[in-house]
Amino acid sequence: MEREALFATLSRLPDVEADNLQAYDATDRILLDTAADFVGPDSRVVVIGDRYGALTLGALAGLGVGHVRVNQDLFSGRLALQRNAAAAGLENRFTQCELGGELLGGADLVLIQLPKSLAELEEIADAVARFAGPRTVLLAGGRVKHMSLGMNAVLEKFFASVQPQLARQKSRVLVAKDPQPVSPTAPFPVTDSLPELGIAVSAHGAVFSGARLDIGTRYLLTFLDRIPAADRVVDLGCGTGILATMYARRNEGSRVIATDQSWAAVASAKGTALANGSGDRITVIHDDAMSTLDTGSIDLILLNPPFHLGASVHAGAALKMFEAASRVLAPAGELWTVYNSHLQYRAALERLIGPTTEQGRNPKFTVMRSIRS
Ligand SMILES: C[S@@+](CC[C@H](N)C(=O)[O-])C[C@H]1O[C@@H](n2cnc3c(N)ncnc32)[C@H](O)[C@@H]1O
Repeated sequence: MEREALFATLSRLPDVEADNLQAYDATDRILLDTAADFVGPDSRVVVIGDRYGALTLGALAGLGVGHVRVNQDLFSGRLALQRNAAAAGLENRFTQCELGGELLGGADLVLIQLPKSLAELEEIADAVARFAGPRTVLLAGGRVKHMSLGMNAVLEKFFASVQPQLARQKSRVLVAKDPQPVSPTAPFPVTDSLPELGIAVSAHGAVFSGARLDIGTRYLLTFLDRIPAADRVVDLGCGTGILATMYARRNEGSRVIATDQSWAAVASAKGTALANGSGDRITVIHDDAMSTLDTGSIDLILLNPPFHLGASVHAGAALKMFEAASRVLAPAGELWTVYNSHLQYRAALERLIGPTTEQGRNPKFTVMRSIRS
């Protein structure tokens, strides 16, 4: 199938779909066009950060590549790739791997959609330099408005040559060559202590807030003594797992699940649970909005929802979490949510969960308790 015809078939599902949100962008196109100068039929191609499969499937359909190894942080992106591949008849032509030797060993060409954070880019660049061969070429593409010189600087730590290419349709590719020797210890995950909570936090590069305590989470934690001791508890969108760890520590009889759509978050939350001796009490699940949990199976959900979807501000991500909470909570189960007060989620919480009462408000944040009706 020709590339543009393939792109036209791509869907973002199970992610939120909306008119202003697309399953591919100009960066996918410019990355694939640039890649054409570097690949031959036997090239071992790796893709990192593919959103919905445009890069993986585009390389298979348009570059004459036989097989692609791919790493995606988001659970929903992994499902979207599988779904889009099945629709295009390309389902057996790629392998999904975690960041590491299985993904990168022997790679000739690595294509990445530049991530938002420099820490995530550093973890990726280190892995490429650590596991791929000395002649591996890395093509890193992004929207010009989201790119910074800091990204070049991160790549220059790991590659002797980093060459920005001409921008096209507001996207640009950085070509990185000559991977440099890396230090014996990988830079991620980092584990830092949080003296104000008396715990240690483990963080991979892509995780929300790094090893620091988010100020919304800090506010929700001030309500910990009022949040009920429940049997089956979920830290939804767990990030580094601070809420799960703090709750588990206070409520020894509870079974706690920490779940997130981001692999970096899930790996970090496991690390945080282990670092605080809660590894056997907290189950960590990589999932999209609790899709693998049974309906009515949970008594309490703790949530600091996202309000950014990629680079755009979109309430859909939080509403999807509320809808998921509505499905998964048992009757009279509780959802405790903290959010930026200007977001005014109360009506949605009342409609989707049930009776909702404000538990507190500071100059920035509101904490709500919703009871499943
Ligand atoms: C504002 S952060 C909160 C992280 C953590 N609970 C904390 O308090 O530091 C929101 C988290 O929700 C996760 N998330 C967003 N959409 C999700 C979805 N559909 N399913 C699961 N997790 C999701 C993000 O990856 C992110 O880690």
